[in-house]
Amino acid sequence: MSSGLALLLALIAVGGLYSATAPESTAQDSGLSVEAMAGQEIYENGCITCHGRNLQGVEDQGPSLIGVGEAAVYFQVGTGRMPLAQNEAQAQRKTPAYDDAEVNQLMAYIQANGGGPTLPDEGDLREGELAEGGELFRLNCASCHNFAGRGGALSGGKNAPALTESTDLDIYTAMLSGPQNMPVFGDNQLTPEQKRSIINYVQTLKETADPGGAGIGRAGPVPEGLVIWVVGITVCLVVCVWVGSRA
Ligand code: HEC
Ligand code: HEC
Repeated sequence: MSSGLALLLALIAVGGLYSATAPESTAQDSGLSVEAMAGQEIYENGCITCHGRNLQGVEDQGPSLIGVGEAAVYFQVGTGRMPLAQNEAQAQRKTPAYDDAEVNQLMAYIQANGGGPTLPDEGDLREGELAEGGELFRLNCASCHNFAGRGGALSGGKNAPALTESTDLDIYTAMLSGPQNMPVFGDNQLTPEQKRSIINYVQTLKETADPGGAGIGRAGPVPEGLVIWVVGITVCLVVCVWVGSRA
């Protein structure tokens, strides 16, 4: 037997020994569920440039996602805000880039890294009391989102969006995660029951048509009076001028 063949056999033996004892691939070591592993793959393709290899965030690109929880992921990805376009100043609501299954996978992956607020239990998210919801909304939300949920401008060129397109779960997860300068309304600030009351109120508000006449954006009694006044005076003036010109 030549020494060449002996070397080859020795190499094969070492190779076999190595692959038998080497650690398994890191994905299997991480202890992630199958769903979370699928989420990790989506994350590495669509989110990693701004949020970092270990979700730790990237300076000037995106914040850390450790501990933000599945509620924040549901809100951000489910409303199409994430993935953010490179040059966007404020994330906008748009058609989601991922389907429901993919959103669930991303939620599982990010929830597995640091925990955080979870989605509410199954059940009707509007089962709260309407009157209480109205009061809580005016107290906690109307300063930014307007009394009728029509949204409004904030300082620094930002804005609080209208709530017209928000689903029940969008509203719930917005409160849990507090996107941008919206405060976080954790369960200590607003109990799950109170959150449901607010959702009931917001959704009822949307379903109720304007009570009569032209809506003019439900701007309130003062602007409505002003519109009537200005229009009325103008009509009177036109009539006066018309009458005068005939004399
Ligand atoms: C171009 C950069 C960019 C990309 C790509 C991107 N993000 Fe973001 N992300 C940001 C920035 C900036 C913020 C903070 C600003 C904001 O909230 O609007 C943010 C905020 C978030 C938040 C909210 C964090 C919190 O504290 O509540 C979540 C969750 C999130 N991103 C998830 C994702 C996921 C999941 C993806 C991939 C599908 C993704 N992002 C892709 C830049 C990015
Ligand atoms: C300090 C101002 C502020 C307050 C108070 C506030 N929000 Fe917001 N809210 C915002 C801003 C800003 C955004 C947009 C965040 C973004 O685009 O990332 C937002 C987004 C939302 C959205 C997402 C809308 C959509 O469908 O795209 C919902 C729902 C929402 N808020 C509900 C509430 C509720 C309910 C309350 C009261 C419990 C509340 N907000 C209180 C500023 C505020």
